[in-house]
Amino acid sequence: MVTPVPPVPLASGRDAEVFALNGRRVLRRYRNFCDTAPEAAAVAHAARHGYPVPEVYRAQGGELEMERLYGPTMLDASLDGRISPQESSRILAELHTRLHGLPGRGGAAQGRLLHMDLHPGNVVLTPRGPVVIDWTNARDGAPDLDLALTALLLALTGDSADPPLADLAEACLAPYVAHTTGDPTRLIDQVVALRSDDPNLTPEEVALLPRAAALVRQTWAAQA
Ligand SMILES: Nc1ncnc2c1ncn2[C@@H]1O[C@H](COP(=O)(O)OP(=O)(O)O)[C@@H](O)[C@H]1O
Ligand SMILES: [Mg+2]
Repeated sequence: MVTPVPPVPLASGRDAEVFALNGRRVLRRYRNFCDTAPEAAAVAHAARHGYPVPEVYRAQGGELEMERLYGPTMLDASLDGRISPQESSRILAELHTRLHGLPGRGGAAQGRLLHMDLHPGNVVLTPRGPVVIDWTNARDGAPDLDLALTALLLALTGDSADPPLADLAEACLAPYVAHTTGDPTRLIDQVVALRSDDPNLTPEEVALLPRAAALVRQTWAAQA
């Protein structure tokens, strides 16, 4: 069954739209069929261990119904100057440290639960504190992979042509790597390889990855 939704979404991304169902619930719906069960399972694991996520009420096919959060994303709050790049970076690094401190879902070989897209646009600053959304890419693995991905995203955005966003990302990279618990460079080649294989990326976007990885390495070396 396809849930009836309001005519205008709260937000619309490349792969999914988010609709407010009422004051307490939102529906995230993927445009192309996609199984939201793995995403819901990741969120449920995080929630079970006290990690700040929206409560998931239903995951069926390409639909995910969850708690409606109130507050700006950390990206919007940073662009507005309501929160400094230093503070935003510290929160990002702390959210990673907390996530990677949760018990893993399998044996030691499987590692820890990773978000694999933790950037300021996927953190909502709610009255109960920062809450992490958008668990589409969540998987199990080595925490350094998650750190490398966030650092790479900050480096890539810092290199982009959108001045306020680029300035913000550039200002976040050094404090983010300084606050991480782990090494954001150790697995960066693996992250570059993963992203290079992403069919959503254009060849131009893929071509920017090595330079961004070099910037992460340089930033990490400078603060070591
Ligand atoms: N649980 C939620 N409550 C309120 N708004 C949400 C919720 N989840 C997502 N949103 C809104 O939808 C936007 C996009 O959601 P997100 O899950 O990050 O999808 P994507 O980045 O793939 O478009 C968020 O920035 C936020 O504005
Ligand atoms: Mg998102």
